Formats: sequence, structure tokens, C-alpha cells
Amino acid sequence: MGTCFFARLAVPSSDNLSWLPRLTGVGNEAMVNTDIVILAAGKGTRMRSSLPKVLHAVAGKPLLKHVLTAARTVPNARQIVVVGHGAERIEQAFCADDCLFVQQAEQLGTAHAVQMALTHVRDNARVLVLYADVPLINPQTIAKLLDAVSHGQMSLLTIEREDPSGYGRIVRSQSGEIDAIVEHKDARPDQLDITEVNTGVLAITAAHLKAWLPLINNQNSQKEYYLTDLIAIARAHGHTVKSVQPLSQIETEGINDRLQLSQVERAYQLQLAHTLLNAGTSLADPARFDVRGTLSAGTDNFIDVNCVFEGDVVLGSDVIIGPNCSISGSVIGDGVEIKANSVIESSIIGDQASVGPFARLRAGTQLGKGSKIGNFVETKKAQLGKGSKVSHLSYVGDAKLGDHVNIGAGTITCNYDGVNKHQTTIGHHVFVGSNSTLVSPLTLADGSFVAAGSTLTRSVDERELGVGRAKQRNISGWTPPREKHKRD
Ligand code: UD1
Ligand code: MG
Repeated sequence: MGTCFFARLAVPSSDNLSWLPRLTGVGNEAMVNTDIVILAAGKGTRMRSSLPKVLHAVAGKPLLKHVLTAARTVPNARQIVVVGHGAERIEQAFCADDCLFVQQAEQLGTAHAVQMALTHVRDNARVLVLYADVPLINPQTIAKLLDAVSHGQMSLLTIEREDPSGYGRIVRSQSGEIDAIVEHKDARPDQLDITEVNTGVLAITAAHLKAWLPLINNQNSQKEYYLTDLIAIARAHGHTVKSVQPLSQIETEGINDRLQLSQVERAYQLQLAHTLLNAGTSLADPARFDVRGTLSAGTDNFIDVNCVFEGDVVLGSDVIIGPNCSISGSVIGDGVEIKANSVIESSIIGDQASVGPFARLRAGTQLGKGSKIGNFVETKKAQLGKGSKVSHLSYVGDAKLGDHVNIGAGTITCNYDGVNKHQTTIGHHVFVGSNSTLVSPLTLADGSFVAAGSTLTRSVDERELGVGRAKQRNISGWTPPREKHKRD
């Protein structure tokens, strides 16, 4: 049992079904409670991984997280996750999530898994069953399915598949009613030809689930308790089962191996790419673009190939991003150009600034309007004012630069004494000559100037020239070394 939210979610169960008829025709939809049972106990053998399958990521987020996010769109709902293999790791990873975990020690089938959750299902609720390894289920589809169950006892998400192998087949009567689901391994040859399949997602009133689940046995080829047997039981009790179809097939794709994981990832990324294209951002190649978090963008942006966006990234408008850039948790202003092979994390880039190629902006970098970070420059907790430039081969860390500062090639802020970090403060209109080392703490006042090749350990005042290098001397009559005679 998960420790996180058990106390809040534990609800006494009741086997008393005397109130059952009152459930039908629920008037006020908003008042209906929904208990969402998410199946996540399977081993995921085909992933060949020590990581539990549902912790593998699509778009940077664990599979289970995708499902929980979709589940959270249902009003008045609670989520109950059935875990077995890797339970501890899963519970640990989702400790901060508002959901209840229940254990299924032995995986005896999908009906058995749902049974494990049953004591926590509220009697007056409707129950939605989702699979944690089917990550892209759409909230609109869930709403349709729940709407269908509100007017009956059970609804089922089905889909037509060109290749239905492995799936449970939807067996319909001549009049088109769903009669049963037959698992692939139990199907007769004529049933194997059926192309309408069970996605696994279903909704049912708690009352009927509680009444019918105990009727399921494991008399089948896999000796498992099949949740899908509910359909035949419903029919035997004179009920109809409604079917609902998803908006797209990708919603129902399950992940069993790494090939399927990569296919779902690509399909998901393509959806994001299309959304971005439709919103006015051009992509050099929608198939070579990855968002592992959220990306919001204005219009008329251009993103070249192989860019990866992580965390929450915000792009303004008229932004150009060159190939092979990695941008995480950052805000990029209007008209910014990020040139090829730049890495930007937790930074704020002001309008019309220019970054790269081959720049690395680490956390806490803030670039003012029209500023420039050039090639092979690393910054960390560095603030640049308007129009300031660090054009080549420099390290600027724990530093605040005013407006219109020019930092020459090869300049380094020596911010670390081996124990503590120190600050470099540079005013407006400061010029730092190439190959200077600024040993912090240090202040270069407005309009000061640093001679190239200086090592500065003292601050420089306004309009002073700081020279921190040995005085040049020229030795006349210098004879350059000659090559020694080589012995034979
Ligand atoms: C199930 C359906 C099948 C459907 C298919 C869609 C049944 C009997 N069959 O088959 O009709 O077409 O999904 O993908 O339901 N799980 C547990 N505990 C268990 C068994 C499974 O938590 O004891 C979980 C798995 O981790 C997985 C999900 O339930 O997330 C489905 O189980 P799986 O074994 O993949 O079922 P299928 O045979 O694919
Ligand atoms: Mg499966």
C-alpha cells in the first residue's frame, strides 16, 4: 500500500447493492464521482530493463505520468494505481502525486488487478479502467467513454486495426450489439478475422463492477482472470455494452517493447510539431524535433533540425534557432537568434540577443536586449546588460555586466577560490581586453578599461585603465636557439 495519500483516500467498501437501481439515470453529471483504476502491475519483460516499464519515458515523462495527467482531467475523480513489479520504485517516483497505490502481488490477470483496487472504489462511483502502458489516451476520449457509461452500465473503447493480432476481438451479434470479447489466444479461426479490437479502456458503474467481478473465472488458455469477461456477463444479465472510438489510433497504442516506445515517442513528437506548425512556427523537419516538456511559441519562428526542448520553454516571435540546439527551462525573447550547437539551460534571453554558435549558457544567465554571446563562451549566473558582448572563447560566471560592455576573447572570471564562489561586477561601457583573467571579487566601474592579457586582482575605477601584466621588455641581439647536431 502506498504511504502517500492512503489516509485521505481510504473509503470503506460496501457489498450492499440494494441501492443499485437508483444509480441509473444520474441527473447531475458534475456530481458523479469517478474512480479511475490504472493498471500498472505487469512486468514489462520485453522492455529488457531493470526500470519498471511504466517509468520509461515518452517525451521526457514516465508513461504513468501521461496517464495520470489525462486521468486528472476527469472532474470529481480519484486515481488508484495497481502496482506489482517494481512497486516500490513506482510509488517512490510518484510519491508527490495525489494518487493511491494498491498492490497486486501476483499478476493473475486484468480482472484480478481491478479486484485489488475494489475496496477503494466508492459504491456510488463510476469506474474507469486505464492501462499505465497506454500513455497517450486523450481526455476527450475519456470524457466520451464516461458520458456513455452515465447512460448505461458499461462502455468500451474499441478500435479497428488493420492487424488485430494479439488483441481481444470484439464479438458482435447480427444486430450489431457487443456480445463478448474473445482474447486472441482463445479465439476461433473465424473470430481471428475480426478487426475491431478491445483497447482495454472501459468504464462501468461501481455497482455493476462489484457485482460482476466475482463471477469471472480463469477457465481460459492463459489461466488468467480476464476483465474482458465482464462483457459476456453484462450481456447475460440483459445489459447492453456501448462502444466508443478514440480520435486517433495513437491514443490506444500500448507499449510492450522499446520499438513500440520509440514509435509512440515519434508519433507524439509529430503531433506536437504539427501543433507548432499550425500556430505559426516553421520547423526545418518536423521529424527531427523533440519537446520533452512544454514549448510555447509566438509566431514566425524558425527551428532548424535536431533541436531538443526540455522543461518549460517559452519562445517569443521571430526567433531563429539553428541546428542541434538544446534548450531547457528558458525564456527566449523576440527576434533572438540562437546559432548552431548551442546549449541553454534555465536562462532568460532578451529581445534581439544573439547566442552561439557553440555557446553554453548555464543556469541563471540573463541576457539583455541586443546582447551577444559568441562561439565557445560559457556563462553561469551571469547577467548582461543591453548591447553587451562576449564574442569568443570566454567564461563568465557569477558576474553582472552593465550595458554596452565588451569582453575580449579568452576572458575568464575566476569566480572560485576552491571553497567559495565570488562575484564580478562590471559597470556600463566597460572594455575588457582579450585574454584577461578577472580574479573575483572584483568590480570594474563604468567606463573602465582593462588592458589585454591582464590578470586583475584589484577593482578598477571609473575611466581608469587596469593593466595587470608584466611590462614588456625587448632584448636586442637575441640569438634564436639552433638545432643540435644530430649524431649518425
Ligand atoms: C488486454 C486485454 C485485451 C486487449 C489488450 C489491449 C484482457 C484479458 N485483455 O490484453 O482484450 O485487446 O489488453 O492492449 O484484459 N496487468 C496488471 N495485472 C495483471 C495483468 C495485467 O496490472 O495481472 C496490466 C498490465 O501491466 C498492462 C495491462 O494490465 O498494463 C494489460 O495487460 P496485458 O497483459 O498487456 O493484457 P493483454 O494480454 O495485452
Ligand atoms: Mg498488452
